[in-house]
Amino acid sequence: MKVIQTVTDVNLAERSVLLRVDFNVPLADGKVMDATRIREALPTIRHLLKRSAKVILLSHLGRPGGQNNPKYSLRPVARELSRLLGRPVLFIEDCVGADVRQKLEELDEGSVILLENLRFHGEEEANDPAFAARLASYGDAYVNDAFGTAHRAHASTVGVPGLLPIKVAGFLMQKELEFLGEKTARPERPFAVILGGLKVSDKIGVIDALLDRCDRMLIGGAMAFTFLKAQGLAVGKSPVEESRIEDAARAMAKAKARGVELLLPLDTLCTDRLNLEAGTVGELCVRDGSIDGDWIGVDIGPRTIDRYAAAIADVKTVLWNGPMGVFEVESCARGTFAIAGHVADAAATSIVGGGDSVRAIQQSGRADDITFISTGGGASLEFLEGKELPGVAALNSKEL
Ligand code: 3PG
Repeated sequence: MKVIQTVTDVNLAERSVLLRVDFNVPLADGKVMDATRIREALPTIRHLLKRSAKVILLSHLGRPGGQNNPKYSLRPVARELSRLLGRPVLFIEDCVGADVRQKLEELDEGSVILLENLRFHGEEEANDPAFAARLASYGDAYVNDAFGTAHRAHASTVGVPGLLPIKVAGFLMQKELEFLGEKTARPERPFAVILGGLKVSDKIGVIDALLDRCDRMLIGGAMAFTFLKAQGLAVGKSPVEESRIEDAARAMAKAKARGVELLLPLDTLCTDRLNLEAGTVGELCVRDGSIDGDWIGVDIGPRTIDRYAAAIADVKTVLWNGPMGVFEVESCARGTFAIAGHVADAAATSIVGGGDSVRAIQQSGRADDITFISTGGGASLEFLEGKELPGVAALNSKEL
């Protein structure tokens, strides 16, 4: 069996290492609002520093569209990284250019350098060969710890490793591949998958792939209404993706054929008014089964919470992606936080992925009780769908 090589498979002592990280973190007023992705890259950075490597960090932030835009500068990230690492981090105001080369050459081994946002140059997303060659010329080895960006075939994820003989995964990348790959492909059983979020269209690939691997699938969030409608139930004014009703029906048929227990909400918390921007709802009530009239479903109901809790109580592996309702609104957050608690309580390998469910688990204060929390958004979904990620395919592998 082939597996990706990692930093422990190669000698990186005193090398100039180009380390691709995903420091695409939320910023406000020049401050990092959530440093999870920075913190998660620290083990690889420390590993390289211990070997006296020169660590040259490459990242993007946001989608500046090939323009230099101070709003998307990585400077605040360099400050935060320096604080977390407890040592200076040199920030260089561009990622390519004569100045960059000169500054890098002046630095000793054991330095940490963060180059400015790669996406200030359109050539990054275009995987431009000349741009990749310039970046590659700054180092003599390449490490990718940017799992969150591994689904993008960009210069820093595909072009650069193509030009360097040493190209391996960092510790974060290795962990992501292990938990979202290995642990869900050959799970300890029973294996339950909880999927929520807005749209069936975003998750249908994952639903299809995971129905091949899991024993139970629990559906919540707005996408459940498309499934309920496919079953012939009324859903009131709840959001439904009409064009995906057939996909939902097909998924239910596949679950049945494969002996996977597919659970849909038994009851729903509904409101007569929902203003997402203002974060407000009108009158609230619980509807059992069908949703009549103009009611809009905003969370799973109490019977569903109990049913879902029972369905994960005895599992050995549980994967959760997507909230159960409009959890940004306090009165509609009960289902999502209850699931967060039950996933945390399960005596199982628990894996949480996707921005909203990660936020929910953090807000619930139970993040420490989860075995693995993915830093990937789109990358996690594509990987769970079974797609090959270009940033991973670009790395060296070894026979196990
Ligand atoms: C993410 O946050 O999902 C990654 O950093 C990728 O960002 P992108 O969707 O802008 O490529």
